[in-house]
Amino acid sequence: MPSPTSTRATERAARVLPLLKWVGGKRQLLPRIRPFYPPTFGSYFEPFFGSGAVFLDLWSAGHLRGRRAVLLDSNSDLVGCYEMVRDRTSEVLGALRALAGEHARLGRAHYYAVRDERFNPLRDARREADGRIPYSAELAAMLIYLNRTGFNGLYRVNARGHFNVPAGRHVRPNIADRPRLERVAAVLQDSAVALRRAPFTEALDLARPGDFLYFDPPYAPLSVTASFTSYTALGFGAEDQRTLQCLVIALAERGCHVLLSNSTSDVIGALYDGNREAEAAGLRTYRVRARRAVNSVATRRGAVDEFLISNIEPR
Ligand SMILES: C[S@@+](CC[C@H](N)C(=O)[O-])C[C@H]1O[C@@H](n2cnc3c(N)ncnc32)[C@H](O)[C@@H]1O
Repeated sequence: MPSPTSTRATERAARVLPLLKWVGGKRQLLPRIRPFYPPTFGSYFEPFFGSGAVFLDLWSAGHLRGRRAVLLDSNSDLVGCYEMVRDRTSEVLGALRALAGEHARLGRAHYYAVRDERFNPLRDARREADGRIPYSAELAAMLIYLNRTGFNGLYRVNARGHFNVPAGRHVRPNIADRPRLERVAAVLQDSAVALRRAPFTEALDLARPGDFLYFDPPYAPLSVTASFTSYTALGFGAEDQRTLQCLVIALAERGCHVLLSNSTSDVIGALYDGNREAEAAGLRTYRVRARRAVNSVATRRGAVDEFLISNIEPR
């Protein structure tokens, strides 16, 4: 019989970790989220995919075996990057290794040269009229490189659509992490996994009774004045939060298992906590403690409360 230590080591080895560091990434919150995984469900949907921490956790634990997974995100760079990781794995890895070698020699100067002289110009050249950027293996490698070496793994573009995150202060960043990249690629290559650039509203057309949906939208700011810039830059305002509430209620009424994470802002409290429509649909609001990883002010990176909203009975 294997010892508990060796069992834990095997579990760790089998775990697929997110490839990208993403603002709002849910790795820290997984222990609070896992009790909500329904014991049985149909297909799985994650309409705000980001780095996919919850999807990869479900996958690693075997909960998605024999099930379809539909992953959506509106970010063209993110989805384009994953598509290349899935379809052109070794080319992405090769380009990433070259970037890692140059970074080891040149450091921050290399970061800015890649960002401004290669990544942004290539994105401009490939951008289509609807804003979509068809990705190449080279672009995917550059996005992963910028994510691994940039400030806190932020993704941010300016008004001209140019990626403008400053360099980070990583001592020895693991840029070309082959095992991690290959594991994520293998998961995405599964024919039961579909990944698309699409708005979250698409989930309403696709989900059937018994399906499980996890929603992790850009969080409503706790104070609108304090985070006004990021609030507008994220392009996800109070109206979007309201649209999402209607969608989550409709899905709960349809008989889907729904789980949503968000900030404890007043806007979100009013939409779910003690809200008549939400409660009538069987939704309950739970307050959980989370560690906040990304904040430009180091002292504000402590613990914060977050809401988990669900019609699933936590175990
Ligand atoms: C908080 S992040 C999700 C983080 C993710 N749970 C993780 O673990 O990394 C929110 C994501 O929603 C995406 N997004 C923003 N607005 C969207 C929309 N209208 N429809 C779909 N995705 C959207 C962003 O691109 C971002 O990746």
